[in-house]
Amino acid sequence: MTRTYDPAALDGETLDAVLYDRLNPWGAGDAFYLDLVMAAERVLDVGCGTGTLLRRARAEGHTGHLAGLDPDTAMLDQARESDAAEWRLATAAQTPWTGEFDLAVMSGNAFQFLLDDATVHDSLVAIRRALASGGRFAFDTRNPACREWRHWNPDHPYEVIDPAGARLRVHHEASEPDEDGVVTVATVFTGPHWGRPLTASGALRFTSVSDLDRLLAESGFTVAERYGTWDRDPFHPDDSGSIITICGRPLSPR
Ligand SMILES: C[S@@+](CC[C@H](N)C(=O)[O-])C[C@H]1O[C@@H](n2cnc3c(N)ncnc32)[C@H](O)[C@@H]1O
Repeated sequence: MTRTYDPAALDGETLDAVLYDRLNPWGAGDAFYLDLVMAAERVLDVGCGTGTLLRRARAEGHTGHLAGLDPDTAMLDQARESDAAEWRLATAAQTPWTGEFDLAVMSGNAFQFLLDDATVHDSLVAIRRALASGGRFAFDTRNPACREWRHWNPDHPYEVIDPAGARLRVHHEASEPDEDGVVTVATVFTGPHWGRPLTASGALRFTSVSDLDRLLAESGFTVAERYGTWDRDPFHPDDSGSIITICGRPLSPR
């Protein structure tokens, strides 16, 4: 990134955003979405974060309309360092387009940032509205059956090198899910710049596949494809780590 890195001026949330690309390097999930993006003419990336997916698509020769939206200023500011796409500061529910895109994606578990049924519904309806007739929506969300949050604790630390070249220690502290499946997650950074750890607080919702399908149906989506891995293996409710879904926006009569 080109902007100045001043660790003393950062709070935990901003540090988490600044380190996002280092903490989440390109992986199989990104490659899965990139294939979909490259095959579509007009693409909306909902919860685009730092814009990695659309920047890569443009770099690989995508010539169509690319738009990314995200409500987090610290994330979107990094996306805006590139003119690969049109970038908007907005939540999924505030998606402003109508019939504009052939594909919408919500990658990197961004769907889990939608913390209650009403927000999911409003977000899905707005995404559906943004799609042209026959358009598709692809997204992933962690399968609650695998209880991944139980690994997010101080016994599983890892390291990241920050933009100043310093080695930071990172660990997570997660709650058990509440009655809505919401897990609170603290990300704790320890490093030489600060006299005490910096903490980013967040929350992620874990949605069962049956609840997911109900929410999709209520929003007018039909499930076209479902996978349990980025290699497109079938989804198994008991042990697939991710619920990867490609939905159709049914053809609507004009
Ligand atoms: C884990 S990041 C994933 C970013 C990107 N999609 C990727 O794969 O690298 C989740 C993103 O969802 C965004 N987000 C949070 N609430 C959202 C909402 N209501 N609508 C859309 N995006 C949201 C966050 O700001 C964050 O950038």
